[in-house]
Amino acid sequence: MFFMSSDDKIKKLLSKLVFKSKLYLYLLKQKVFFKYIEALSLFMKKQIVIFISGKGSNALNIINYFSESENLTVSHVYSNNKTSPFFDLKLDSNIKVSFFQNEDLNTKVFKELQYIKPDLIVLAGFLKKIPTSYIDYFKKRIINIHPSLLPKYGGKGMYGSRIHDNVIENNETETGITIHYVSEKYDSGEIIYQRKIVVDDIDTAKTIEKKIHKLEHKYLPKIIESILI
Ligand code: GAR
Repeated sequence: MFFMSSDDKIKKLLSKLVFKSKLYLYLLKQKVFFKYIEALSLFMKKQIVIFISGKGSNALNIINYFSESENLTVSHVYSNNKTSPFFDLKLDSNIKVSFFQNEDLNTKVFKELQYIKPDLIVLAGFLKKIPTSYIDYFKKRIINIHPSLLPKYGGKGMYGSRIHDNVIENNETETGITIHYVSEKYDSGEIIYQRKIVVDDIDTAKTIEKKIHKLEHKYLPKIIESILI
């Protein structure tokens, strides 16, 4: 039988402790290292900031589209609508979602954006007019999606289902989506992309809205990608 002296026992215990603490330090370093790499890779990606006022289905679609991208990421979503179901979504912790009061758009939010330095600001169903300070500061870096074939059915008060109601009332045979740069005037900046759909006799504002959302979800992320890459 082999007996250990108490000195040996203490030595063994100490060496175990040293091994464990070395291992702990190593793992800690690895974790810190990976966090550092993650932060660095996020920093190196082009950043998209989205503004919404409604449901945010386009915002979610853009987030999902770029979730695996090596070059682009959605870093922030701003909403001026506290009751938006978007706030209930479980998103990647790197995406910051904030509610703001309209009166803070030109002050607090503007300052935050100057700090964030987004490569592109996307208005995805955002219903407040963008201040001139934004247009000057983020030149050609703010785009909007509009659910009609601009210049038709654009301008103040023209948004969402109101547009589709008008399309039906006026017996239009086609409608569609427009993606454009944002300028000082509502819905009148340089057009980047338009896509048409046919309005059938049996269409209602609701069915058009569905078709429009489908188009928006398909093309908006692709257009964002083509602008930024
Ligand atoms: C979209 O259809 C967008 O084109 C429209 O609001 C909807 C938002 O839907 N934008 C406008 O009417 C702007 N004038 P979502 O919240 O589900 O993305």
